[in-house]
Amino acid sequence: MEKTIHVALETLIGTPSQRQARPEVHAKPHPSSRSPRSNERDAGTFFLETFGCQMNDHDSEKVAGVLVSRGYTQVQTPADASVILYNTCSIREKAAQKVFSRLGEFRGTSDAGKIIGVLGCVAQQEGENIFNRAPWVSLVCGSASYRKLPEMLDKLEAGDRRVTGLDNDTDETFETEITRRDNPFRAFLTIIEGCDKACSYCVVPFTRGPERSRASDSILREVRELAELGYSEVQLLGQTVNSYKDPTSSKMKFSELLLAVADVPGIRRVRFTTSHPRDFTPDIVAAIDAQPKLCDHVHLPVQSGSSEVLRAMARTYTREEYLERIALIRAVKREISITTDIIVGFPGETEEHFQETLRLLEEVRFDALFAFKYSPRPNTPSLAMNDPIPEEEKSRRLAVLQKVQSEIQSARHAKMIGQTMEVLVSGKSRRENRWSGHASSNRVLNFTSPHQDLLGTYVNVLVTDAGPASLIGEHVL
Ligand code: 5AD
Ligand code: SF4
Repeated sequence: MEKTIHVALETLIGTPSQRQARPEVHAKPHPSSRSPRSNERDAGTFFLETFGCQMNDHDSEKVAGVLVSRGYTQVQTPADASVILYNTCSIREKAAQKVFSRLGEFRGTSDAGKIIGVLGCVAQQEGENIFNRAPWVSLVCGSASYRKLPEMLDKLEAGDRRVTGLDNDTDETFETEITRRDNPFRAFLTIIEGCDKACSYCVVPFTRGPERSRASDSILREVRELAELGYSEVQLLGQTVNSYKDPTSSKMKFSELLLAVADVPGIRRVRFTTSHPRDFTPDIVAAIDAQPKLCDHVHLPVQSGSSEVLRAMARTYTREEYLERIALIRAVKREISITTDIIVGFPGETEEHFQETLRLLEEVRFDALFAFKYSPRPNTPSLAMNDPIPEEEKSRRLAVLQKVQSEIQSARHAKMIGQTMEVLVSGKSRRENRWSGHASSNRVLNFTSPHQDLLGTYVNVLVTDAGPASLIGEHVL
């Protein structure tokens, strides 16, 4: 996420190296985390590296679940694996290139003889072209076909040279009973796949296909199971999660679904990402207001502060309409943290448009920002737009945005010193008595406590210090 502002509370798009860049924090496995049933067959070993967003992280949990249940064992290096898989992201060009550079590392090595597979968005976008660019790849599979992976691997083992799974409008991507969750504290749950919004810069409608919502009864059944397994926090996922449309006869609205999930015994926190401003209706805000288990955090990507740019992006709302949504959220009785995504350097973005975005930051005072330089993507309408912004100018705008946001965050965080926040403890430092976790607002808190065995518990933390990215505190005993 080379272009992302590093003042974020939590990355929505991250690279594996970033995820590993917290060497001091070791989360031990949740005692009740589910281990998928194995059919006891020793099918081989697999290595799986994930790029991209939380949807991809969670897809990898599904892939691992499917493979482990078929007798495969997960290993930590390509050298130890008989099957090497990359779950890829194509949202920006750099992310897509990263995969090809990974694949290039196998050229002329003995690992090139193993089964090497490309999964996810680059697979869907490039399809069989991948075989031309990296002939040692033998499997290309988009996110809607992961359930078919074992059969695809069987075919390869039976002698097929190449297999593909590139359907992208099936609803087979939703959870399976064998999803193998990596995060022992927060259970991710896909409730809607694909996207029908067609923003002019975005590959997602192409790589993940049309919008498909999962049945509400099936979602609620799984949340009950997750609660029984010991999860107290669930995060509902979708590219446009709040565009959820229940396909069952109960026609539950998204806001009703949120409340129903919060009512499941054992569930203490409900999160959801990512929301589209157009579908962020007052009933969702009313649900948050009425039910504190719905976390104090809304991620609402704005993309630009200029109505003109928003129109060119086909975002279907204006700056003013976005600000109306913010006003609704700010009217909630408790303070709700609001985070956003912004793209700088969209074709035709003038200095004045960019200044409007800066003014929006000052007006809203977001709690965190994920900012990106516009990256032209295949199959998107904006690819054909004139007036490209030079790369250096995009970098300049990104840096200005980061600076403004960093100051806003430092100021907001400084005001939190002296407050007490409830934290779900998810990490322990190697250093004695140091822990970390997230508040309901999704803020990261690093804190001290003399207690042992805090992982997975909720504790009250007094904020004693603050930086732009996180808060520091001590356990209130
Ligand atoms: N270029 C740059 N950023 C993009 N995003 C999506 N498509 C592009 C693109 N072509 C950003 C948007 C989105 C986030 C996940 O990635 O800000 O909200
Ligand atoms: Fe892409 Fe727009 Fe859909 Fe988000 S809402 S996934 S930015 S097309």
